[in-house]
Amino acid sequence: MAPTITPLDATFGATITDIDLAHLDQPAWQRVEDAFHEYAVLIFPGQNLTDEAQVAFAMRFGEIELLRGDPAAKAVAISNQKPDGSVLQPEEHRYQALRGNEGWHTDSSYMPLAAKASMLAALVVPSAGGETAWADMRAAYDALDNDQKERIEGLSAHHSLYQSQAEIGHIVESGTAYGYHNKGAPLRPLVKTHPVTGRKSLFIGRHAYQIPGLDDGEAKALLDDLLNFACQPPRTYTHGWQPGDLIIWDNRCVLHAARPYDYSETRVMRHTRVAGDPASELAATARDARASGFEPSTSNI
Ligand code: OGA
Ligand code: MN
Repeated sequence: MAPTITPLDATFGATITDIDLAHLDQPAWQRVEDAFHEYAVLIFPGQNLTDEAQVAFAMRFGEIELLRGDPAAKAVAISNQKPDGSVLQPEEHRYQALRGNEGWHTDSSYMPLAAKASMLAALVVPSAGGETAWADMRAAYDALDNDQKERIEGLSAHHSLYQSQAEIGHIVESGTAYGYHNKGAPLRPLVKTHPVTGRKSLFIGRHAYQIPGLDDGEAKALLDDLLNFACQPPRTYTHGWQPGDLIIWDNRCVLHAARPYDYSETRVMRHTRVAGDPASELAATARDARASGFEPSTSNI
């Protein structure tokens, strides 16, 4: 059976049905990869993949980015439930990381090598809330007027998890946890050209903060304005999860954000992240390091 691809009622995104991601033949994979480039967010309801099948599907998109420094952790839980079954409390580092996910962001932009794609599958969902939202940064760029496009052309922002977590009151000593740089935050252009489609998009989100050439107040105002403008309908989609759903998105051209829920309930998602291509996702500030033997590092969520 050929997959059925149904575009969302938005500038991006599609739902794909009549497909079994655990048993993909070559023509079906080709449809999926083409749809990924066209729609940037793909929703696969009711897949109920195992860990192994999810990782195998992710590996079709590229190398897996190792999270939390554990080479065995190709799929990690994004969850407020601890191994003993209790839920995370506000003073815990992981709780604060989950709260951070509620701000619009793109994955690993604070690492030397930003992510290509990320995948989430729902295992346990709360009775209300806990959706995930995405926003189309290609359409956002297209919707800017020429003055705005000219203003941001040539500007770059530093991306820092230390900075974005500090904004929500979560202070981690620099360099003491994955994702917390101690050698300067990666610098990335505000306008990114997609390495496959050639489309331009805004590359912003909560990890972006300082802009060389602007003072910090100006940079913050510009980044806040762009983010507020960008993450508006018809450029957004919010998914209410059913257990078994799987969604993959293109971190190079969409932002995403978790929606809040009652943390006394449990929410368990399985996350797999696909590493960027150094040719297009390695920060300019990391290129020298790479030439002298830089290895893509592990990251936080
Ligand atoms: C992530 C993320 C959002 C969510 O896994 O990178 O931001 O809804 N998740 O859990
Ligand atoms: Mn994320």
